[in-house]
Amino acid sequence: VGLKTPLCQRLGIEFPIIQAPIGGAAAPELAAAASEAGALGMLTATGGDDNSIRQRFASMRALTTRPFGVNLILHNEQRVQLETCLAEGARIVSYHWRRFEPGDPYIEEVHAAGALVLLTIGSADDARRAVDAGVDVVVAQGFEAGGHVWGSVGSLPLIPAVVDAVSPVPVVAAGGIGDGRGLAAVLVLGAQAGWLGTRFLLADESPVHPKHAQLALAATETDTVYSSLFDGDWPGAPHRTLMNSTYRAWVGAGSPPSGQRPGEGEAIGHTVEGRVILRYNVNHPTVTRVVEDDAAEAMALYAGQSVGLIHERKPARRIVQDLVTEAEIALKAMAVA
Ligand SMILES: Cc1cc2nc3c(=O)[nH]c(=O)nc-3n(C[C@H](O)[C@H](O)[C@H](O)COP(=O)(O)O)c2cc1C
Repeated sequence: VGLKTPLCQRLGIEFPIIQAPIGGAAAPELAAAASEAGALGMLTATGGDDNSIRQRFASMRALTTRPFGVNLILHNEQRVQLETCLAEGARIVSYHWRRFEPGDPYIEEVHAAGALVLLTIGSADDARRAVDAGVDVVVAQGFEAGGHVWGSVGSLPLIPAVVDAVSPVPVVAAGGIGDGRGLAAVLVLGAQAGWLGTRFLLADESPVHPKHAQLALAATETDTVYSSLFDGDWPGAPHRTLMNSTYRAWVGAGSPPSGQRPGEGEAIGHTVEGRVILRYNVNHPTVTRVVEDDAAEAMALYAGQSVGLIHERKPARRIVQDLVTEAEIALKAMAVA
């Protein structure tokens, strides 16, 4: 069985596997390890200043000569960040959290630089609009996904609906893939690659905070919750996280609206640089961001339902190899049925 899809060729990768952008955890060490393993590594540049984005690209180039992508969340203006990414030679730009109309500068500038545009969508209608606006690859994100979730449809019905809507435009499947069986499944549904966030969050190279990692490894598929709770700096945007003390206290108080929740505006800990971390902040804990375990536990512990399938941290290279082997076994087993 060969897992190669036409999108692999277009992106210049060996396997139909993309390390999803995962906020502060999508750092050069992780992204480079994913790219070196034959998948596509993704950096994030959302909200970054010129210097930090340039540094990320420089670190990435020092670690790999293979293709990689960069992600921007467009809940607020990211034009300056986009320009820096393009000036740094980005060839694959992925966006989240925006509906595009034809002629949108976020698309035209990427195309003018000869790069590809990916957009995360949550329905067949979203996908059609995205393609009409010039998006080159759609990332169909199922409701089971970790992090900020754009749509409300599960991956199983979403992917084939999106494939039917935009074929031959390539579709990438995001949400719910925890191992190679999931990768095989989305390829069977017509996706040309899997986009895995929670799995790579738990790679050895990921700067995930150890407390977040520990809770994720112990979690089952029923331990995540979908809410708009962690809305500091990004209000009204639903996301999937691990159930934690902040979530439990909020539910215990009768799930009051933003502004009236327990511990609203209180400091729960400090960043490595000594800045205060507020409860309900949108950031998730990374080793570069947070010191205290208690603070980390109370933050947004983004994770998808795929967390129930992930039982160990391992190097990105082994994640990719195991995904490929397991997917091939699953597809072979079906071929004789
Ligand atoms: C910790 C974490 C952070 C995330 N940050 C981003 C981000 O910065 N940009 C983005 O487009 N998606 C982000 N996402 C969503 C992922 O790209 C992806 O859609 C999702 O993880 C797929 O579901 P899975 O976790 O089951 O693999 C994040 C997800 C997680 C788990």
